[in-house]
Amino acid sequence: MRIINMNQATGEQIIQAARILTDSIPIGWATLEEALGEIEERLIPGNTLLAAVENGVVLGWGGILAPVYNGNVFELHPLAVRSDRRNEGIGRAVVSALEDKARRQGGLTIHLGADDEKDGGETSLANCDLYDDLPGKLNDFTPGTHQSGFYLKMGYKIIGVMPDANGRGKPDIFFGKRL
Ligand SMILES: CC(C)(COP(=O)(O)OP(=O)(O)OC[C@H]1O[C@@H](n2cnc3c(N)ncnc32)[C@H](O)[C@@H]1OP(=O)(O)O)[C@@H](O)C(=O)NCCC(=O)NCCS
Repeated sequence: MRIINMNQATGEQIIQAARILTDSIPIGWATLEEALGEIEERLIPGNTLLAAVENGVVLGWGGILAPVYNGNVFELHPLAVRSDRRNEGIGRAVVSALEDKARRQGGLTIHLGADDEKDGGETSLANCDLYDDLPGKLNDFTPGTHQSGFYLKMGYKIIGVMPDANGRGKPDIFFGKRL
C-alpha cells in the first residue's frame, strides 16, 4: 500500500474514491454524483487530498483543507476507508500522512467534526442535554460504535460539541490534536 496525492490520481481512482465516500457516509453524500462533486470541490490548490492505494486501487482517502488562523489550524475533511478493508491500519496511515502534511506546512492544530447523527445515537453525547454539565459529560465520554473511537486511538481529544447540529439530540463532536 502506498499513499498518493489525489491530484495525481487517474479518473478511475477518483471514481473509486467517490464510491468509498458515498458507501461510507451516505448521510453526507447520498449518491456517487454528490461524492464526485465533493472531490471536485475539494481537489484545489491549498487543500491536500491523499489516498491509500494498493495495486492501483484506492482503499481509503482523506483530506486537509487550506489552513485558517494564519496557517495555524487545519481541518481534516473528509475521511473514509473501504468498508471491506477497515481495521487494517489504512485510516491510521491516511490520517498520519495528512498530519505530516499539515505539520510540514507549519500547522499547530488539526481538528475535525464527527457527527453523531444516526437515529438512536452512538456516543454517550447523543440524546442528552449538552447544556447541562457538559464538562462532566465530556469526562465520562464513551464512543460506542461511532468513529470517535478511531480518533481517540489516533490521539485526538474532544475540544467541543455543537448540540443538536443534526437534529435534536444529534450533536457534532469536535476533535483536535496538537501537531
Ligand atoms: C473511521 C475509519 C476511517 C477508520 O479507518 P480504519 O482503516 O478502519 O482504521 P484503522 O484500521 O487505521 O484503525 C486504527 C486504530 O483505530 C481503531 N479503530 C478503528 N475504527 C474504530 C472504531 N470505529 N471504534 C474504535 N476504534 C476503532 C482500530 O482498531 C485501530 O486500533 P489499534 O491501533 O489499537 O489497532 C473507517 O472506519 C471509516 O471509513 N468509517 C466510515 C466513515 C467515517 O466514519 N469517516 C469519518 C467521518 S468523521
